[in-house]
Amino acid sequence: MVSCMNTNGSNGKHRTLAVVTGASSGIGYELALCCAQNGFDLVVAADQPAIHDAAETLRAYDVAVDAVEADLATIAGVDRLYLATRERPVDLLFANAGHGLGGAFLDQDFARAQHVIDTNITGTTYLIQRIGRDMRDRGHGRILITGSIAGYTPGAYSAVYNGSKAFIDSFSFALRAELKDSGVTVTCLMPGATETDFFNRADMADTGIGRSQKDSPADVARTGFEAMMRGDGDIVSGWKNKVISTVANLVPAGVLAEQYGKIAEPASGIPKSIKPQI
Ligand SMILES: NC(=O)c1ccc[n+]([C@@H]2O[C@H](COP(=O)([O-])OP(=O)(O)OC[C@H]3O[C@@H](n4cnc5c(N)ncnc54)[C@H](OP(=O)(O)O)[C@@H]3O)[C@@H](O)[C@H]2O)c1
Repeated sequence: MVSCMNTNGSNGKHRTLAVVTGASSGIGYELALCCAQNGFDLVVAADQPAIHDAAETLRAYDVAVDAVEADLATIAGVDRLYLATRERPVDLLFANAGHGLGGAFLDQDFARAQHVIDTNITGTTYLIQRIGRDMRDRGHGRILITGSIAGYTPGAYSAVYNGSKAFIDSFSFALRAELKDSGVTVTCLMPGATETDFFNRADMADTGIGRSQKDSPADVARTGFEAMMRGDGDIVSGWKNKVISTVANLVPAGVLAEQYGKIAEPASGIPKSIKPQI
């Protein structure tokens, strides 16, 4: 386990409260761990009951942890999480929940593709608007949004996901500019391929990128946490990913899409995401 730097994120009047979405596993769990190790109280959220196990583990750090089980692809789910944060001011928001979907777009089950958009874009922006307004009114707060270096790259066989992260990366920079001088900082964490449940869940385990060596979620989370605490605008985790994102800015989008297809194309025929379409 990588421990995070000890940082005082509070305004000195109360114990710091952090909200972390997608905290049941992967990068989000590690972000929540960074918070717990720094003595921050937590509201953690995810869609499945595993969020309660994660909350129990985090309580070992002697911090208060509330768990919210909600589908953050829905307005009702985001409202449920927002209501659960109403008793205390939120100092830190980690808008991290998200997922991908592999396979050729025309063959994907549209409901699953829509869930990617609804989670990664609609639910994420709605939650940021609700909690961000409160932060702006108080003149205090930090927001970390988990984007991706995939946002730099149109991605054949991951078209919807990569597009959703292009939206999120762009949105994060724009919101940061709007909130300049407001007391609220916005940081975009842009990981590369990271060793989490992401590729299994996206039906991308059997692809070049799914089988590749990946970064540690603890390292990625620590990098993002530290950048947020410094108030940085963006952070690409890992030197290899910094090179990839720099080169991606120079290469034509059509070339990037085809190159991405070589590492994202399913190796073993039809991915599970495909359902017969009538
Ligand atoms: N792994 C990578 O290579 C990589 C690279 C760049 C960026 N990212 C981004 O990093 C973030 C975290 O992903 P990860 O790699 O840590 O994957 P992960 O281990 O699969 O974690 C995803 C988390 O998001 C939650 N989540 C997904 N959809 C949700 C929904 N509709 N409502 C509520 N919670 C939801 C999951 O909870 P449930 O299981 O309960 O749904 C889980 O806690 C995502 O935004 C992802 O796009 C990942």
